[in-house]
Amino acid sequence: MDQERTARLAARCVEAFQRRFDPGATFDGLTAARAPGRVNLIGEHTDYNDGFVFPMAIDREVVMVGRRRADDTVRLYSVDYDQESVFELSRVEPDLGARWSDYVWGVVQVLQEAGFRLGGFEAAIAGDVPRGAGLSSSAALEVSVLTLLDALFDLGLDLVQKARYGQRAENQFVGVACGIMDQFVSAAGKAGHGLFLDCRSLDYQHVPLHLEDARVLVIDTRKSRELADSAYNARRQECQEGAAFFARRIPEVRALRDVTPEAFAAYEAELPEPVRRRCRHVVTECQRVLDGVKALAAGDLEAFGRLMNASHASLRDDYEVSCRELDLVVEIASGVEGVYGARMTGAGFGGCAVALVHKECVEAVRQAVCRRYPGETGLTPEVYEFTAAEGAGIIDLAGA
Ligand code: GLA
Repeated sequence: MDQERTARLAARCVEAFQRRFDPGATFDGLTAARAPGRVNLIGEHTDYNDGFVFPMAIDREVVMVGRRRADDTVRLYSVDYDQESVFELSRVEPDLGARWSDYVWGVVQVLQEAGFRLGGFEAAIAGDVPRGAGLSSSAALEVSVLTLLDALFDLGLDLVQKARYGQRAENQFVGVACGIMDQFVSAAGKAGHGLFLDCRSLDYQHVPLHLEDARVLVIDTRKSRELADSAYNARRQECQEGAAFFARRIPEVRALRDVTPEAFAAYEAELPEPVRRRCRHVVTECQRVLDGVKALAAGDLEAFGRLMNASHASLRDDYEVSCRELDLVVEIASGVEGVYGARMTGAGFGGCAVALVHKECVEAVRQAVCRRYPGETGLTPEVYEFTAAEGAGIIDLAGA
């Protein structure tokens, strides 16, 4: 965990809390929680097919500082939006003037529906996960609220519950039919490690990232992801059609994750397009995750890079969730010496690409992207270097 950055965010929250809610509030009376964003290294659009993913939590996060109230009122203040949102536990509704609060009341609603007894609370929120970039700032907010409420009301939530309730809040109250990857890695990530997750059993393994001289670079296309939600739901539908097709022929198949490359090859000719290509992506991507985890665990960066490149091609051609901007940054990065591999990351249709790059070549990638990308797209890219961070937790304010 990058403790200084966390401490700065926590200090901003405490200061805001005092300004908005109670000038006399001290560290002793406040609880602070944090939860990180994520970048997915490999395993895209596999989570909702019961498949495998391999993301890492990043050193960018959402921090919340708060305390219980004696009544049933929830008062929130977002430092980043400089906005307050207030609701009653008995009447949880969207605050149309403060859409960021959807994630908080969504979580509150999900917890109440699940039978947890909450009370009122007040909290200040600040974060540094780039927003709208596909780095899971929303999952970070959901998991930070869950972590704070868990501490304030002794809910006894485990990692899996946090991930599931966060996902449910997003599904039911924000209206995005996302899988479990983002919330899971925000809750369960580990510093210096990737998280290998089986999205069916939710068994996971922290895999040490033997990156040696390599760095994880994330290139934000700055292309907004307007169409992402409807296309995302359409892909989920196509995958369901594909899974139903295979289930009719192979009784063990419950989801596309159960379709082996051999079974796919045996039946693919009977599948209609584009469902055939959607299935091919999921089947091959699940295998790439298994191969990629082995490669990274063995420190074989070249092999991992080749899998990243293959993943991008599959997302572009078979799954069709890339876009001109993502293809361009991947192409530019791939052309730079010292780049092991690059691919779009997250849902697609904009947002970010991730590249594995030799540390001496980070600057060359940055320059190559900044030289060519703006002229061809009219957009100004951002390039970030992230390290694998610890999943959500409570911050010791006195020690921060
Ligand atoms: C979004 C969703 C995740 C996952 C990815 C694609 O980030 O929130 O659940 O489906 O897209 O891999």
